[in-house]
Amino acid sequence: MKLLHVDSSITGDNSASRKLTQQIVAAWTAKHPDTEVEYLDLVAQAPNHFTMAAMAPRTGQTEGLSAEQTAENAVSEQLVSQFLSADVIVIGAPFYNFSIPSQLKAWIDRLAQPGRTFRYTASGPEGLAKGKTVIVASSRGGVYSTSEAMQALEHQESYLKVVLGFFGITDVRFVRAEGLGMGPEAVASAFASAANDVKAVTAA
Ligand SMILES: Cc1cc2nc3c(=O)[nH]c(=O)nc-3n(C[C@H](O)[C@H](O)[C@H](O)COP(=O)(O)O)c2cc1C
Repeated sequence: MKLLHVDSSITGDNSASRKLTQQIVAAWTAKHPDTEVEYLDLVAQAPNHFTMAAMAPRTGQTEGLSAEQTAENAVSEQLVSQFLSADVIVIGAPFYNFSIPSQLKAWIDRLAQPGRTFRYTASGPEGLAKGKTVIVASSRGGVYSTSEAMQALEHQESYLKVVLGFFGITDVRFVRAEGLGMGPEAVASAFASAANDVKAVTAA
């Protein structure tokens, strides 16, 4: 089994989501010792923002590509192949400005390729990356899960669920540490709750 471990926090050793992804991968590999782990640090190896130079997989252009287009396509191809070859994907997804880090969005922009992760049919879109398990390590300064008013403000977990669902992935599990900006007691309680999530999401 192949597991792709992805981090996207900019905060290095202080990162909550990086701690959580480490815990998830450790718990998963303890349970499934045959797992082969590949690591992708989207901050150390950030793909460029998505531009027209990276559009060939969407436009279908194969002839007359510039050097820039060829280089950008190679980045997209490497990232989508790596994603498609994984059975389990662990994604560190910090909550930044009501959404996800732009590095994580840039990765998703490279994965969203017709014919690879989705296609349009007469009856609508169909995801092509079926059968994978994704575990998201969600870290948040505030608390967004306990009221509808706050849930309406979050475009991090909800966005990831939508886009992964669009790729055909229905098994999306969350490990959540929230309230990390709300003082030491809230931090302790957030990590205790996340530790329970780690056990739950790696049990099956
Ligand atoms: C650039 C930046 C933007 C942030 N924006 C928000 C926000 O909109 N809402 C919130 O509740 N917390 C916000 N936070 C707090 C983070 O969600 C919190 O620090 C979390 O631990 C980030 O994950 P990380 O430690 O893995 O980087 C922000 C933090 C940073 C660094």
